[in-house]
Amino acid sequence: MAEKNKLMLELEEMQTQAHQALAEIQQETDLQKWHTKTFGRTSLLINVFSRLPEVAKEERPVVGHRANEIKTALETEYLAKQSAIKQAALQRNLSAEKLDVSLPGRSPLQGRLHPQTQTLRQIYNIFAEMGFQVYRSPEVETDEYNFELLNMPAYHPARDMWDTFYTTKPGVILRTHTSPGQIRAMREFAPGPIRVVLPGMCYRYEQMDASHEIQFNQVELLAVGKHITFGDLKGTLTDFARRMFGEEVQTRFRPSYFPFTEPSAEMDVECFVCGGKGCAICKGGGWLEILGCGMLHPVVLRNGGYDPEKYTGFAAGLGPERISMLRNRIPDIRYFWANDIRFLEQF
Ligand code: PHE
Repeated sequence: MAEKNKLMLELEEMQTQAHQALAEIQQETDLQKWHTKTFGRTSLLINVFSRLPEVAKEERPVVGHRANEIKTALETEYLAKQSAIKQAALQRNLSAEKLDVSLPGRSPLQGRLHPQTQTLRQIYNIFAEMGFQVYRSPEVETDEYNFELLNMPAYHPARDMWDTFYTTKPGVILRTHTSPGQIRAMREFAPGPIRVVLPGMCYRYEQMDASHEIQFNQVELLAVGKHITFGDLKGTLTDFARRMFGEEVQTRFRPSYFPFTEPSAEMDVECFVCGGKGCAICKGGGWLEILGCGMLHPVVLRNGGYDPEKYTGFAAGLGPERISMLRNRIPDIRYFWANDIRFLEQF
């Protein structure tokens, strides 16, 4: 073939330009524009066949053939470029959102038992070893169970010992101590023998300060049967103190008064901070009061369904918050139920 015809030159020029333009492209959008320009309806490659009459007849197959070759070549280049751009975009994403698998994770905040749940469980364990079962009784009580059946009729001045939350329903109150559970347990088990602990929240209408809360736990101890004596009471409670505070701890019983026990006493343990010498915790006295106790009053036994001529029993009521405060030197009872994580997380 002598000289190339004009159309052939245009085709080759167009291929060169398209090839160079493609090499520069970095973006998907530019690639699409390139594609439209190269293969679109107005492009030379598409219109070359309608322009064949411009060319001498014998050269037309050569031009047509060449046009097809160029088209195939550019298409191949286009596909290669397209996948290169995709690959580059993927690489960019991978390095931008790189995950550092060697970075330690944040450990989740782990919950734990409330300090008083821990103390309560410790108390249950000690009494369980002595054969006492846990017996639950209601926190919302009647005046009858909280006072009357415990030998405190409505006029009784001993009611002044308990500041009380009354509900709007007459005769329904929040229990001021766990002692009403004594009557409930006795009425369930009479005339059988009883050895139970009655734990749970009690409520008193108090002016709150470092040693007074309107809510606190108590653990009531109750034993009923034949031939139960004050000696059993002393032995059980002294043994409890040894298991709770250590083998060496000294205890003492002081006479006291409760309407539902006779005789009544309070038990002190030797101050484990100063060993009985006297310090700020025991306020110089060398002893710490931890519970009230006594032999069941005959009226209470009868109200529970036991004949006081045949049966006797003892009861005690201890304050687990007080025990925790003494053992951990917590200066303010209000910490227990204030929901302050800084306090709770220390236990
Ligand atoms: N219920 C008494 C109180 O709250 C404690 C107690 C219980 C005393 C059992 C004697 C016997 O103070």
